[in-house]
Amino acid sequence: MSTHATPRRLTVPQMRARKGETPLVCLTAYTAQMAGLVDDAVDCLLVGDSLGMVAYGHGSTLPVTLDQMIAHGAAVVRGTARALVVVDLPFGSYEARPETAFDAAARVLAETGCAAVKLEGGARMAPTIRFLTERGIPVMAHIGLTPQSTNAMGGFRTQGRDTAEWDAHESDAEAVEDAGAFAVVLEGMVEPLAARITAAVDIPTIGIGASPDCDGQILVLEDMLGLTDHAPKFVRRYADLGAAVRDAAGRYADDVRTRAFPGPDETYS
Ligand code: KIV
Repeated sequence: MSTHATPRRLTVPQMRARKGETPLVCLTAYTAQMAGLVDDAVDCLLVGDSLGMVAYGHGSTLPVTLDQMIAHGAAVVRGTARALVVVDLPFGSYEARPETAFDAAARVLAETGCAAVKLEGGARMAPTIRFLTERGIPVMAHIGLTPQSTNAMGGFRTQGRDTAEWDAHESDAEAVEDAGAFAVVLEGMVEPLAARITAAVDIPTIGIGASPDCDGQILVLEDMLGLTDHAPKFVRRYADLGAAVRDAAGRYADDVRTRAFPGPDETYS
């Protein structure tokens, strides 16, 4: 019998139980390789539809397809052993009807092996969240700045600058909690509003450009590694891998052009 213990992934109920406890460490990941590198450090990895902008060069998340989310979701699950993996439902795959959302979410769970899906929207999506959670599909909600609504919002704007908006955002959080969401992402909202929502709901809030008082934080991995050129202002960079990649490519180019590149004997010995 093997004595090698297989590491266990954080489960949805375990993440739900972290409300008010040690903050949840979350990052995005799109590939098996990057996910594997950060697996030991995080509690949760989100295969976010930000991959459309970061990995595919689109100007928004809107062109991302369900097939792309499934391919990247499966890769991230294969590359990890510990993190709870959540996969975004992309724009157009879930909004029309709860049944449509169920079909999309069921494909995501079955074809990737992930534990949960995330979808954008508060009170208006509560019936869909309830429909999914009552059928065994864990849902992470996402309110505040919701990038799939960029056209309706007129761009990526911080939410809650006007306190008159606060009650609506708090109602969104309460509606998704009541519908069965196990956690809620609070994106791009003023800090006191995010803190107020965190105090108001019993599910963990995961902040991004929100408040350190949230129950956890998430960043786009490439932003915090310094691999993207236009990261949001709130992002703290923990590395400058963009500069390291440019430098390595430049030194490689110099080696090739000066014929300093190793020959096959050195390469394969
Ligand atoms: O798509 C994404 O990466 C996200 C996070 C920024 C929360 O939704």
